[in-house]
Amino acid sequence: MASIVDSISDPILEILAEMVDGAISDPKNLRVNPTKDPKFGDYQFNGAMSLAKKLGRAPRDLAQNLAAKLETMPWLEKVEVAGPGFVNLRLSSAWLSERVGEAFQDERLGVESPGKGHAVVVDFSSPNVAKPMHIGHVRSTILGFALDRIHRFLGFDVVADNHIGDWGTQFGILLVAYRQLGDPEAFDKDPIEELERVYVEGYQRAQQDPSLMEQARNELVRLQQGDRENHELWERFVQASLREFDKIYERLGISFDVTLGESFYNDRLPELVADLEAKGLATRSDGALVVFLEEEDLPPLIIQKSDGGFNYATTDIAAMLYRIERWNPSKILYVTDEGQQLHFRQLFAVARRIGIEVELEHIWFGIMRLPEGKFSTREGNVIRLDTFMDEAERRAYEVADRLNPGLDKPVKTEIARKVGLGALRYADMSQNRQSAIEFRWEKALSLEGNSAPYLQYTYARIQSVFRKYREEHDGGDLQGVPVLLEEELERQVAKMILEFPEHLYRSAASFRPNQLTDYLFDLASLYNRFYQNVPFLKAPDGIRESRLVLCELTGRVIRTGLELLGIEVPDQM
Ligand code: ARG
Repeated sequence: MASIVDSISDPILEILAEMVDGAISDPKNLRVNPTKDPKFGDYQFNGAMSLAKKLGRAPRDLAQNLAAKLETMPWLEKVEVAGPGFVNLRLSSAWLSERVGEAFQDERLGVESPGKGHAVVVDFSSPNVAKPMHIGHVRSTILGFALDRIHRFLGFDVVADNHIGDWGTQFGILLVAYRQLGDPEAFDKDPIEELERVYVEGYQRAQQDPSLMEQARNELVRLQQGDRENHELWERFVQASLREFDKIYERLGISFDVTLGESFYNDRLPELVADLEAKGLATRSDGALVVFLEEEDLPPLIIQKSDGGFNYATTDIAAMLYRIERWNPSKILYVTDEGQQLHFRQLFAVARRIGIEVELEHIWFGIMRLPEGKFSTREGNVIRLDTFMDEAERRAYEVADRLNPGLDKPVKTEIARKVGLGALRYADMSQNRQSAIEFRWEKALSLEGNSAPYLQYTYARIQSVFRKYREEHDGGDLQGVPVLLEEELERQVAKMILEFPEHLYRSAASFRPNQLTDYLFDLASLYNRFYQNVPFLKAPDGIRESRLVLCELTGRVIRTGLELLGIEVPDQM
């Protein structure tokens, strides 16, 4: 089922192509847009102006010509040329009703599978071992998971890959410091916290005592050379950290297809750099092996340090080659904070030189700030993610209790879980990902603004309309009910429901979940206006059912959209 915008734009393009003898170079820009005001119809085509300019023709003439040819289209009720050459289109209500009926029958709500046959690797979350997951990784986890879900829904074969930082210089210090300062009991209780403590103290000591630093370097080399004792201890650190991360993933309902950390690629690095050198892509410079990127106007990328060690970037080149070989993806997405922009520009430049043609995207995001004071402990440590989630659920419980105090406690607890975690995720994803965001509880948990609870509440209320309808009307099956679009608000809701696929495609193409949240918010606001302004259950037979079809579809779009963002919906609130 083609999206509503395609169903209208495609025939327009066909007519135009015939009229101007194929002179259309940018069909993507020649599409209809929804109008702001119903007096201009439902959709507007404003491509006649730019096209006429290119062809040296009068825009209004071209628009008139187009309009005349459109008159006979079955989906059109009225076409009008306005101003310098806008073509205003009012859709036939019968055609709209039919489309709504089709969407109602379609489990996928009209969304096609443009990704079929294409694999996409999404590299997200990717925290560093032995450190608590910081807020940057939280954003990567939440955004990355939404991109994963959206792409899967669009038919892509998604490979969710957690590129954990389990290899690197921090292990030298950790190995030395843990043997000196480690407390096994504390490690068993809370491994990440203990490793963090040991690392911070070990690092400070090594700063003051060069011999400790030397020792750390030696232990690291021994680890890299496969020393058994060091390897065992390292393995324990990694496993314990992963178990802790898994608790967070589980709570957020997130899973990965593979967790291939940096260490996985370690054995491939010597051959990789030798190969790059042999091909003349990397050059020796002051003992280090470097890829110069002057043509790309980027600083050189070091792939082997003068002491022989490899680094983050070398591993990333190896990981990219591995992914291409194993999954043959059409895209690889890397979701990290803004601080890594240079790294990825360099990495992608090197990839091009190697001859890699896969689409590579660095999906970066700004920092998330938490209101001062409230999110740090008395010692000034940043609050851990699990504590933060607990707080979200606690506050959401208050909201649920306020809305519906009579519900059983376990029911309210479950609502609070969905609403609290949903609010956290939505607060993150509903913003332009590249701007710094400040997290505020009032906004995240608001029942009125652009927030998860608002959408969840709208959804829950739709479910309660249905519960009532089924009680009053004995089952209430809506299959095959004709959709009547007589009120302007009904038409608007119908159109907006049919626009869901369009917004999803756009959100995927730009890797911006906020394009989806904006749409869901607009849909919920429109629906609520509809609900407040026309009778539902009290409407006459037939009209009641028709409105309920729109109501149910709105609920399904909201639920599907939120679930693609990793947000669950409660049936009551
Ligand atoms: N572990 C890295 C960090 O914490 C993020 C890894 C992102 N992915 C990648 N392939 N470089 O900053």
